Amino acid sequence: MRTLRTIAELRAALAQPRREGSRIGLVPTMGAFHEGHLSLMRRAREDNDVVVVSLFVNPTQFNEGNDLAAYPRDENRDALLASDAGVDYLFAPAVEEIYPPGFTASVSLGAITEVLEGAQRGRAHFEGVATVVTKLFNMVAPQVAYFGQKDAQQARVIKQLVHDLDMQVQIEVCPIVREPDGLAMSSRNVHLSPAEREQATALSRALRVASDLVEAGEYESDAITAAARNELDSANLDTEYFEIVDLETFAPITTIDGPALAVVAARVGSTRLIDNQQLSTKSVAGQYAGAVAAGSN
Ligand code: PAJ
Repeated sequence: MRTLRTIAELRAALAQPRREGSRIGLVPTMGAFHEGHLSLMRRAREDNDVVVVSLFVNPTQFNEGNDLAAYPRDENRDALLASDAGVDYLFAPAVEEIYPPGFTASVSLGAITEVLEGAQRGRAHFEGVATVVTKLFNMVAPQVAYFGQKDAQQARVIKQLVHDLDMQVQIEVCPIVREPDGLAMSSRNVHLSPAEREQATALSRALRVASDLVEAGEYESDAITAAARNELDSANLDTEYFEIVDLETFAPITTIDGPALAVVAARVGSTRLIDNQQLSTKSVAGQYAGAVAAGSN
């Protein structure tokens, strides 16, 4: 695996494989790799001739200075893990390479960026994500790019971006990788104290409460969210939102009558965590429960 720092180096490295018609896969990341990131890289390795992983802690998508300053960084460790996962190129540019003096562009999308994470973190969050991902797509020009369902709304925003701006890249969304006790893996989990780590399991438990209720035939969002919030409250979490939303629009749903998504954001101490789970009404619930039991989500 080679680590590349500049856009020129990256383009030079990819020129020949591109000429030869190689399939190039991109996994955009901010580093501090865990099994969630590695699952995307392994998937990209299976599907492609050349795998590029970008490692860039994108300052423009952080809405809290502390969060950016405290974001875990360990490039040497990340490089070893990426290399083990079969990655060909780790693109790890400096901030000035991505945002040189005089940089002015910003990619702004509509309604999907304004709810939930967009409402909590502010417009600048998804603008920052959409702008940096647009730049990465332009730099790497991959045939396919991999994102995690962990950040479900982000994956949906990226699909909107690709659709609206006619980008020639296929978006693959991969399942959430969880710790054995259900906590969704996240780079921010390292900030949790042992007690907070225990509290944090309430997010996935609350989602489980919601999916169990739906499987049992409860389709009213109010009843489901009340039970889920109860689980979060019992663990003393500071819940920002727990909602049941449409898979496509992320608009709130009152009565579930098709595939829906339960989404949660909560603070455990000063660490902000998000998680989500698809909810399915009876017709597909059995199939979904099977997937969960097999640990694929
Ligand atoms: P980052 O948080 O590093 O995540 C990189 C990718 O890994 C994202 O697509 C995310 O959804 C996925 N991921 C994180 N945790 C996961 C888990 N437990 N299971 C499966 N996938 C998981 O998301 C970003 O970086 C940035 O916003 C980025 C897209 C790179 C733009 O800066």
